[in-house]
Amino acid sequence: MRTVRTVAEVRELVRAERAAGRSIGLVPTMGALHDGHLSLLRQAGAACDVVVMSLFVNPTQFNEGADLDAYPRDEAADAQAARSAGCAILFAPDVKEVYPDGFCTTVEVAGPLTSTLEGAHRGPSHFHGVTTVVTKLLNMVQPDVAFFGQKDAQQALVIRRLVRDLDMPVRIVVGDTVREPDGLARSSRNVRLSGEDRARATGLSRALRAAEQAVVAGERDADAVAAAARATLTDFAVDPEYLAVVDPETLAPRTEIDGDVLVAVAARVGAVRLIDNVLITTTPNGRG
Ligand code: PAF
Repeated sequence: MRTVRTVAEVRELVRAERAAGRSIGLVPTMGALHDGHLSLLRQAGAACDVVVMSLFVNPTQFNEGADLDAYPRDEAADAQAARSAGCAILFAPDVKEVYPDGFCTTVEVAGPLTSTLEGAHRGPSHFHGVTTVVTKLLNMVQPDVAFFGQKDAQQALVIRRLVRDLDMPVRIVVGDTVREPDGLARSSRNVRLSGEDRARATGLSRALRAAEQAVVAGERDADAVAAAARATLTDFAVDPEYLAVVDPETLAPRTEIDGDVLVAVAARVGAVRLIDNVLITTTPNGRG
């Protein structure tokens, strides 16, 4: 695996691979790799000839300085994990390479996709930071396929919209959420959960299971499904920032469970903000 830090270097390596007829997959990350990232890297390796992973803790998508400062950073461990999962090129630019002096462009996806759920709680500037850096990473690496995780379901929708709206020549693949054995969605933030909070954190996935079970049992009223999930969160002493039953494409609130719905939750457990979601379908063979 080669590690490069400049746009010129990554472009040169990618250009040579492409000239040899090889396809390029990009897995954008902020490091602190966990099994979710490794699963995306393996998926990229199965779909593309050459896997590039970007490692860049993007300051513009953090709305709290403390959250940016607390973000776990260990490039050596990440490099080793990425190599073992099949990464061929690690692109780890520093902040000045991505945002040089004078940088003043923002790429925004407007409307409810960025203003609801995470956008309503973290502010839409969070997604503007994501779409700006993802646009830059896609321009820098120019992959055939880019891979994102379903745990950040709203981010994945925003990026799909970005790529469609700007006619970017890249295919977006969204990989399934990878979970701990007790159901907690893998996240770089999990390492910051203390003993008791770690146990409470399982309340999020349990709540989503409760929502799913309510639908399986025949419940079709979205408020009742949300109430089942909220009751489970209460059992785990977790107070959600939001728990919403929404359309999985537009994120518009749903009143009735008919076809596919996304149930999304965000909560602070101790000092750690966690998100999770589940796609529930009433269509017999999955997504309709
Ligand atoms: O999901 C992430 O880790 C980040 O939001 C991303 C896509 C790498 C952009 O900084």
